[in-house]
Amino acid sequence: MNDPVNERKLQHLRIIESDPDADRHRRYFDTIRLKHRALPELNLAEVDPSVTFMGKRLSFPLLISSMTGGDDDVLRRINRNLAVAAEQAGVAMGVGSQRVMFSHPAARASFEVRRHAPTTLLFANLGAVQLNYGFGVEQCREALAVSGADALCLHLNPLQEAVQPKGDTDFRGLARKICDVSRQLDKPVIVKEVGAGISREDAERLLAGGIRYVDVAGAGGTSWSRIEHHSLVKVESDDLGLAFQDWGLPTPEALRALQPCRDRLTLIASGGLRSGIDMVKAMALGASLCGMAAPFLKPAMESAEAVGEVIARLKSEFVTALFLLGIGRAQELVGNESVLFSS
Ligand SMILES: Cc1cc2nc3c(=O)[nH]c(=O)nc-3n(C[C@H](O)[C@H](O)[C@H](O)COP(=O)(O)O)c2cc1C
Repeated sequence: MNDPVNERKLQHLRIIESDPDADRHRRYFDTIRLKHRALPELNLAEVDPSVTFMGKRLSFPLLISSMTGGDDDVLRRINRNLAVAAEQAGVAMGVGSQRVMFSHPAARASFEVRRHAPTTLLFANLGAVQLNYGFGVEQCREALAVSGADALCLHLNPLQEAVQPKGDTDFRGLARKICDVSRQLDKPVIVKEVGAGISREDAERLLAGGIRYVDVAGAGGTSWSRIEHHSLVKVESDDLGLAFQDWGLPTPEALRALQPCRDRLTLIASGGLRSGIDMVKAMALGASLCGMAAPFLKPAMESAEAVGEVIARLKSEFVTALFLLGIGRAQELVGNESVLFSS
């Protein structure tokens, strides 16, 4: 029997493939200018793009953001190719929401990425709102165990749930539940959005409950509101998803808003980052790790080599930008606003 959650995973991929505007291409990072250094006083060959995140060394600060998994050859292939490429390139990777493996056990294998990526920094994933729909610490532990992950992403998607009929829209008391679960796990919890950003108020609430990692996942790239608009059986409220397709805090603004929390909170930037130059800008605004999802989807359907080519392109852009900013080590870039051009 077909599982509806599994079917939706495939439907989402078909929508993203057929609608180029599911990625909003807002290019919010283009408005940020960097200070070119004609005298970088560095040897390009000696620029060190590596960073350490959660105790693991990354060749440069890239995260292949949470996307998919489920009971289908395409979904298994995507996660395998991403994991193989992440291991080869020394970058981090997240799997997509693992909720499906609880209703449809045949989906589990697609999340068993550790066997393809023995040393990679890996993130498990569940929707935080499921904590209001019967999930608890047990499912969180299971998600971590199946993927062999180093940390658990709990995603917040109130917009996505609100624009779909019969979405899981009871978000009451969720901050407390997220923090309770986090205290009971022996691995860190990363709270992430999925494309609408995390505000200062929400970050402070999470911080007060002990959360130390936030992925702002802001607006500008993948729009779940638009994707859900396509998934609807045609009804009166059809246009809700379109009305909200650009809703949310643009990623650079979300990073700026969280600057006062940075001494207590480690930030991940995702949502519309599309180049190594965007990564440099996100780091100057305070991110320690930079995530991208949509740019990896098509190559992941093809092969690990195709994913590797995208990673290599991002890395050379990132290293070149570091050189041209006179920054010798990527670690020196986090929150370093001196590289931003202010007129
Ligand atoms: C195909 C696809 C599936 C996604 N599925 C999930 C998911 O299951 N869980 C999650 O936390 N985020 C999910 N995301 C959101 C991404 O992890 C990321 O935070 C967001 O899309 C912004 O990145 P982008 O603009 O580079 O795509 C998904 C994104 C894409 C493109």
